[in-house]
Amino acid sequence: MPKFASCNLSLVLVAFTTIVISCQNNQTDNTSNDDMLVSTYYQEQHRNQIHFSPEKQWMNDPNGMVYYEGEYHLFYQFYPDSNVWGPMHWGHAVSRDLVHWEHLPIALYPDELGYIFSGSAVIDWNNTTGFGEKGNPPMIAIYTYHLMEGEKAGRDDYQTQGIAYSLDKGRTWTTYEGNPVIPNPGIKDFRDPKVFWHEETSQWIMIFASADRVQIYQSPNLKEWTQASEFGKDQGSHGGVWECPDLFKLPVDGKEKWVMIVSLGRGGPNGGSGTMYFIGDFDGKTFTNDNSPETVLWLDPGRDNYAGVTWSDIPKEDGRRIFIGWMSNWVYATVVPTYIWRSAMTLPRTLSLKNTDEGIRLISRPVEDITVLRSELKTIEEVSINSQIDITAQTGFDGKPKELIFEFEYNPEAKADFGIKLHNQLGQEVKIGYNPANEEFFVDRTNSGKKDFSDDFATYDKANFKAEGKLKIHVFVDVASVEIFVNDGELVMTEIFFPDEDFNQLSLFGKRAKLTQGNVYSLQSIW
Ligand code: FRU
Repeated sequence: MPKFASCNLSLVLVAFTTIVISCQNNQTDNTSNDDMLVSTYYQEQHRNQIHFSPEKQWMNDPNGMVYYEGEYHLFYQFYPDSNVWGPMHWGHAVSRDLVHWEHLPIALYPDELGYIFSGSAVIDWNNTTGFGEKGNPPMIAIYTYHLMEGEKAGRDDYQTQGIAYSLDKGRTWTTYEGNPVIPNPGIKDFRDPKVFWHEETSQWIMIFASADRVQIYQSPNLKEWTQASEFGKDQGSHGGVWECPDLFKLPVDGKEKWVMIVSLGRGGPNGGSGTMYFIGDFDGKTFTNDNSPETVLWLDPGRDNYAGVTWSDIPKEDGRRIFIGWMSNWVYATVVPTYIWRSAMTLPRTLSLKNTDEGIRLISRPVEDITVLRSELKTIEEVSINSQIDITAQTGFDGKPKELIFEFEYNPEAKADFGIKLHNQLGQEVKIGYNPANEEFFVDRTNSGKKDFSDDFATYDKANFKAEGKLKIHVFVDVASVEIFVNDGELVMTEIFFPDEDFNQLSLFGKRAKLTQGNVYSLQSIW
């Protein structure tokens, strides 16, 4: 008789999701009163397993990412009282490996100056603020105050920039008594400060969004700021308001170029929110764009990577520029069919630059740290694709997170789509592939499961891409998302989905195409 055949179940709901099942063994051994812990923590339907998400309630933009003393901090726009957007706080988590996250108490709460909107954090190594102690530089958060009373009263000046500091590795915070450090000059959308130390001119630089452009300010001490320049009116796309900018330099072919990231509330390449970037130069005062004003470059033309920015203070010997985005889109973020929590972040990615025939382009790759999650590897032999081939059994595809690295060759004359399909027994599917006729990469989630929550969700999304007979796709498949890195990060598309049963089948599809190599890693859950 199996040990738990006769159980007296007492179910206790602990912290939402942990069920303690107390089982009495009815066999002769009356000493054993086994307590079996069955964890349902992070096991809800559609809960991603290798991505950061809050335990409960609403989350949007990543904020204040900074590295300090072995910890990667991730703060985020958080409303602890509801699963839809509301008075914003900064939620907080830390990681030692960019993969596993520890939830910490809320870092910043709304105060008399307003809700705590998006922003950044830095380590003030030289104690320019004077908030630090000897041997203990302060961690400074720089964020937007959004004064709801002001907005409701019809005023234009309800967004200002404020700062707060922590002397205990971000665990507790003190807001600066001189806030706001940048008052509002009468511009409604005036937010999302990203701050960095500009070594060449030894000063702090703040870039933030201001309606249809970004503002660049300078400061010696993070408290007193002067406007240096602005950028963006008549540059790039203006389908929506500009938000969440970032500015940093990256090496390319022995030179250094500056990259400006700007998120766009509406008008993204496949509808709704999207993130652009500009390549150019920055002299501590002014950003100049290398490309024509009408050039629009998208960081991730998938529909679900928004408001992303990069980590501050990554040690020089590491040298990476690490990015994370919010894996959702404002056109449906508040109604996606998860209820205990809403939304997740992308995987952290390393950004770099590459010289291409079309000019310098931003390359996104998953951080290598994620390889710690790899468990079993399954390999698929070379196979010609002339119709659909089910590779579920060979790849061990089972509805749990997987990393797929597939290399294809195709006959451009055939002009037939090819790629991979995630699907389930209900006929729901996500198709990921390449259309050689139009030279487009695509993600088709028109029949991916739940979609009635928004008319804007079930879309066929695409991006121009020249593959020239060969295509490598590196895909992270989680329970409710895919991130597809094409040809080593030349293109990345991030998309979410909500199948009624997790996708536990995998197929190849196409005509006159060939899979030359296929590796599939099972990935362990981070929760
Ligand atoms: C971007 C954004 C930011 C703002 C925050 C408010 O998603 O609109 O501009 O600071 O969200 O939660």
